[in-house]
Parts: sequence; C-alpha cells; structure tokens
Amino acid sequence: MRRELHEENRLAWNEATLAHNSHKHDQARFLREGGSTLFPEEIELLGDVAGRKLVHLQCNSGQDSLSLAQRGALVTGVDISDAAIAFARQLSEESGIPATFERMDVYDWLARTVRGAERYDVAFSSYGALCWLSDLKAWAQGVAAILAPGGRLVVVEFHPFAMVYDEHWRLACPYFGDGQALTWENGISDYVADAGEALAPSGYDQGMQGFVNPHPSHEFQWGLGEVVSALLEAGLTLTALHEYPYANGAKLLAGMRETPGRRMIPPEGVPSIPLMYGLAARKDRIVPGGGC
Ligand SMILES: C[S@@+](CC[C@H](N)C(=O)[O-])C[C@H]1O[C@@H](n2cnc3c(N)ncnc32)[C@H](O)[C@@H]1O
Repeated sequence: MRRELHEENRLAWNEATLAHNSHKHDQARFLREGGSTLFPEEIELLGDVAGRKLVHLQCNSGQDSLSLAQRGALVTGVDISDAAIAFARQLSEESGIPATFERMDVYDWLARTVRGAERYDVAFSSYGALCWLSDLKAWAQGVAAILAPGGRLVVVEFHPFAMVYDEHWRLACPYFGDGQALTWENGISDYVADAGEALAPSGYDQGMQGFVNPHPSHEFQWGLGEVVSALLEAGLTLTALHEYPYANGAKLLAGMRETPGRRMIPPEGVPSIPLMYGLAARKDRIVPGGGC
C-alpha cells in the first residue's frame, strides 16, 4: 500500500473536485426533484437496493451515493478527498436525501470496518475508482471481509484496455501495470469540462475555466484478469462480468463521439474495443453443517 501516493492523490482530487462541481448546475435541486446520476449498467448489476446497507467506495462528491439512497439504499459513502466529502455532506443536506459520508483512505476504512461488527449487503465502486488502488489484493480482501454473508460487490469501471492508447489512438502504454505507479505531473484534469452535459445531467455551467491541477497524481493499471483473480482469491464468487464497447459519460480519448444514453464511442473508422466493464461478485453464505 502506497500511503504517501494516496496522500498526493488526495490533494489532486481536492482541486479537481472543485473544478468538476463548478460545471454542474444546482445538483441539490436536480436530486431533490428525483434526478439520478446513475447509468443503466450499474442499476442492472446492483438490482433492487431498497433497504440494503450499501457502502459506496470512492464516492467522490456523493451524487451516485445519493441517487442510490433515493432508490431506498441505506448508504455510506467513503472517499479520501476532503473537498469531495464536504460537498457530499452539503449535497445530502440540501437535497434532503439522507446518507452518511466518511472522509478516509479506503484502505483505512476497510481495516477499521473489518475490526468492527458492521457488515454491508452491497459494496459499490465505479467509473475511475480502481485505478487509484495501490494494492488490489488488499482491497479485494478488505471488501470481502466487510460484506455480510450473501452480500455483493458491484464494480462498473472504465476498461484497462482503453488505457493503452495515447491521444492519437496509437498503442503507447503497456496493458500490464505490474503494480507500478504511473505518475502524471498535473494528472487529474477537468474531464467534466471535456464531457459537458454527459457528466453534468443537472445542466452544464461554464464554471471554472482553464483548470490546471497543481498536484501530481499516481494511478495503477489493473488488468481485468488481475481484478477478477483478486476477487476470487478473496473468496468471492463471480456472478456477472460484462464488457461494453462504449464508456458512460467520459470522453476517455480524443475524438470520441457521444451516442444516445451519454455513451461515448471511438471516432469514425476506429474499430470497437472494450471501453468499460461491469462485474458482480457474491460472498457466499456458509450454511452450518456444510455446503453453501
Ligand atoms: C473518478 S472518482 C470516482 C467517482 C465516483 N464513481 C462517483 O460516484 O462520482 C475517484 C475517487 O476516488 C477517490 N480516491 C482516490 N484514492 C482513494 C483512496 N486511497 N481512498 C479513498 N478514496 C480514494 C478520489 O478522491 C475520487 O473521489
């Protein structure tokens, strides 16, 4: 676990979060009036969350967490960014949608929760979360440990294969990250400004202009096989795994085109590639006397 890199990421996320939210018009009103920031892929994988104790790991400013709370889940959101958690708490108050938000490194939150008695029916993580994890196996073990028997993990993520291209769609980066940090000097950009309404369903405001992040960021490239293996090794049972030829909301690479449903696809002439994946994994119930 690279705590010192997580701390640098916290600073970078604090700045980026302010820029991102500056473009999102009156989010409290949007949520209060029944708006949702969720996409169909996670809604389908999560299923009915009403009455479920759900932890949203790396929840950023809580828009998805509150959208899940609106569907009846009892939500705890966890994120390392001070700015994100402050915003999430305010959004919860202003929208009138209750949820608990905790500012913590996800590894510290998992470790603390494992030591306590509380267990969750659902753990959820999505859209640019796993690339910040410096120890995938420790994360998977922690998630498995905080789930109640029968509980489920749902992940919807940008596909690691999409990360091998540079801005000109040339093969430029290795698919296999070997657990090494990839450092970007002003790494977390204002990708909300690039995506426009696709990432601002409450309406797009001009907001902050010309944002340049003053802090470096450190990412980790985890291949799909590594993610699935870490979950299986942690004792979870994989129940769903989908790959998608589009990315929800984000224009990951240059020239991506928006199609209905806020789905981004490659430019004309580029063959389809996996741009997103979704998975569900279950913690099996142990039946006294043997069997599962
Ligand atoms: C792309 S955002 C995820 C967005 C999220 N899917 C949502 O609902 O808005 C990635 C988040 O991971 C958080 N993060 C990065 N490293 C973390 C860590 N070690 N512990 C907890 N959160 C972390 C960042 O602060 C950021 O809010």
